[in-house]
Amino acid sequence: MNTGKLTVGLGARAYDIHIGPDILEQTGALLSPLLSRPRTVIITDENVTAAQGDRLKAGLLAADIDFDIIVLPPGEQTKSFAQLQHVTERLLETGVERTDTIIAFGGGVIGDLVGLAAALLRRGCRFAQIPTSLLAQVDSAVGGKTAINSVHGKNLVGAFHQPCIVLADTRALETLPARQMRAGYAEIVKYGLIGDADFFGWLERNGAALLSQGGGPKRAHAVKTSCQAKARLVEQDEREQGVRALLNFGHTFGHALEAVYGYCDTLLHGEAVAAGMALAFDYSVHQGLCPPQDAARVKAHLAASGLPVNISGLPPSEALNADHLIALMMQDKKVEQGRITLILAEAIGKSVIVKDASIDSLKSFLRETTAS
Ligand code: GLY
Repeated sequence: MNTGKLTVGLGARAYDIHIGPDILEQTGALLSPLLSRPRTVIITDENVTAAQGDRLKAGLLAADIDFDIIVLPPGEQTKSFAQLQHVTERLLETGVERTDTIIAFGGGVIGDLVGLAAALLRRGCRFAQIPTSLLAQVDSAVGGKTAINSVHGKNLVGAFHQPCIVLADTRALETLPARQMRAGYAEIVKYGLIGDADFFGWLERNGAALLSQGGGPKRAHAVKTSCQAKARLVEQDEREQGVRALLNFGHTFGHALEAVYGYCDTLLHGEAVAAGMALAFDYSVHQGLCPPQDAARVKAHLAASGLPVNISGLPPSEALNADHLIALMMQDKKVEQGRITLILAEAIGKSVIVKDASIDSLKSFLRETTAS
């Protein structure tokens, strides 16, 4: 059963997003019309191939699509220059042509790395996103941002390169560890916070069920609502010159927190985003932009979902101080001429882009927050 199809309307680069519980089995049928010849290369990681690889392979074989498979180590460290080199050399070895389509099969790490490899390979080949984590299904697989990390920060080396299709199989989420589910859930909450107060209300009522065993239909609804919201922003502003920046809500604080721990499992991306969204609400209250009760409601829901909502709840680290956090935030891609842009909240469902945020006031807020 195919429960949902959306389109990201980008003219010649438009593509469909298919969402449902049995999408992997339909991969061959959905991909065939897009292929120049019946062959592809799957790039995945060890965990994903062990948990879901057979379903994807069967889906391709059912449509007589031949494939090679490249398996990478799991984890954020894979978003590196070394793995980018490894994967592009391996793809060239398999004889990938410019008109071929390769498959990114995994979470955000695989999607970001493979998307960048596809952007570079023979100056650009096509790729399909088959996201298997909740975070990738609701955010990173849609919209064409691809990247690896630098020693200077996360996602600092990348390109915009849209996939030719996104296949979000919600049954694949059943083998995802609970902590990864919660981390992905933070990005779902983000869509409610930035522009859809009703969806946030739905999440308050249904989030616990969605995160539990048997939450499949609710997950599919949340994935679809999230992808729909993201598609509309990407259509308006593909290259993030304006409104697309709203999708970075919580991320400027969050990326700094991730950097403190060296992008490792101590703090997952989605957990950093949850803490970052809580900080963005607290800072919005501090600036007199947002009613305190909205910040309290947001933090109550994130905390009830098992996500961090303040700095004191994070693992201790000497690097968790205001000056260091500001220095890390200055590496954000939205910094222009030394000025920081923050996405803040006027209310739940009403976010705003604040250019040239005051560094002094941010520093005094972070000093208070890190001291408490
Ligand atoms: N993850 C934010 C964006 O795709 O713009």
